[in-house]
Amino acid sequence: MSESLATVSYIGATILFILCLGGLSNQETARRGNLYGVIGMTIAVLATIFGPHVTSAGLPWIIAAMVIGSGIGIYAARVVQMTQMPELVALMHSMVGLAAMLVGYANYIDPAAAANLSSAEKAIHEMEMYIGVLIGAVTFSGSVIAFGKLSGKIGGKPVLLPGRHFLNLLGLLVVIYFGREFLHAATIAEGMTPMIVMTVIALLFGIHMVMAIGGADMPVVVSMLNSYSGWAAAATGFMLSNDLLIVTGALVGSSGAILSYIMCSAMNRHFISVIAGGFGGDGGTPAPTGGGAQPAGEVSPILAAETAELLREAKNVIIVPGYGMAVAQAQHTVYEITKFLREKGVNVRFGIHPVAGRMPGHMNVLLAEAKVPYDVVFEMDELNDDFPQTDVAMVIGANDIVNPAAQDDPASPIAGMPVLEVWKAKTSIVMKRSMASGYAGVDNPLFYKDNNRMLFGDAKKMLDEVLLVLKA
Ligand code: TAP
Repeated sequence: MSESLATVSYIGATILFILCLGGLSNQETARRGNLYGVIGMTIAVLATIFGPHVTSAGLPWIIAAMVIGSGIGIYAARVVQMTQMPELVALMHSMVGLAAMLVGYANYIDPAAAANLSSAEKAIHEMEMYIGVLIGAVTFSGSVIAFGKLSGKIGGKPVLLPGRHFLNLLGLLVVIYFGREFLHAATIAEGMTPMIVMTVIALLFGIHMVMAIGGADMPVVVSMLNSYSGWAAAATGFMLSNDLLIVTGALVGSSGAILSYIMCSAMNRHFISVIAGGFGGDGGTPAPTGGGAQPAGEVSPILAAETAELLREAKNVIIVPGYGMAVAQAQHTVYEITKFLREKGVNVRFGIHPVAGRMPGHMNVLLAEAKVPYDVVFEMDELNDDFPQTDVAMVIGANDIVNPAAQDDPASPIAGMPVLEVWKAKTSIVMKRSMASGYAGVDNPLFYKDNNRMLFGDAKKMLDEVLLVLKA
């Protein structure tokens, strides 16, 4: 493939990636957006493999690597549970970081890479490599720790070293000093020492940064590392003088940054204080079976049959799904119940919190998979004012996102986080297995409110019973 055809293909792929991002911003166009992304990536890969920079000797290596990589990717995508998606995404981000690091080293030791460059161009190229390896190493180790935290292998409690801000600053100064040494190195062997020192510091910084962030801030960490992985890819693009990689990396980097901002607003947090760490320390361990705070007060349980009666008599129903719906895989039964009630004239809507579940858009994906119509799925802000006119608010496996303590208790670890005000409905029903706390590890005063009922049990099992009674 000629240089100009490869360039045209890259421009086409870039346009498709932009259309892809545009499509993904809306549920109704997300499928099309994904398709644009797939076509764009296919064009990009083909134009690279058959482009002017790959020799015929290199082709078998690339194809072998692609076969192995695709095999692992297909296997992982098939076996991963929906609830493990955030961990898989964190692992993938770590791969992008690792790739940026390896490309940086390979580029540095390749004598051909800087053969025809002037001394100024060489200095710029070396700076690109140094910064690329730096971003790659932070992304790699930070994502591995995020994977550990999201999968519960590492506790969610922030690890705060004494003088941690000083340590970070010191690390930065050492990295800058060795950057200077790296640029002044006369030979590749001489430049290797500063490069390795910087890599070790960057790896330690990545570990330190994410370890210091509490469990409750993990949504921001996931999107922040997403952004870092984009910048790591962009840095790789600079190292390889590949325009498409620069543009694609910048797209991922900036959209990840926007997502981090949205996540911060959803949790009423400032980005800087998230990075500074320490939030969500009190029992903020991922708590699939609960942990943290002790239950306080009396709750009123309800049976599935009584829930069905309440739903049958209701005119307005709002369903609030959370992480437990994903665990129970209850979305298909939720759809059946929604369909049944809507056919009977009940106004059923869904309220989605921006950090419901364990990854951005988690609930939307599950509901779309179950074919719940998009026009009844609303964001938190769109229907939070409607709860007082709602007969039944049905909370399915959600906890932190409906916790009134976020508004009422300034001492709560989630104080200030906007929540869905389900307690303002005539009746709220919370479906969960026990009194265990959610991800943030805090007790939920909603459970003890007079108009709240607890439907204890696995969400799928309980909803199956509700549906059975409804249809009887
Ligand atoms: P959580 O607050 O974690 O609550 C989920 C609840 O589901 C738990 O209290 C659990 O109670 C229940 N549950 C678990 N399995 C169940 C099953 N099979 N059937 C019925 N219930 C089940 O979830 P949420 O309300 O969706 O809030 C999300 C939390 O995760 C927030 O704190 C958020 O900050 C955090 N987080 C979000 C993200 C993103 S990007 N969305 C990423 C990381 C962390 P039982 O054990 O009693 O059943």
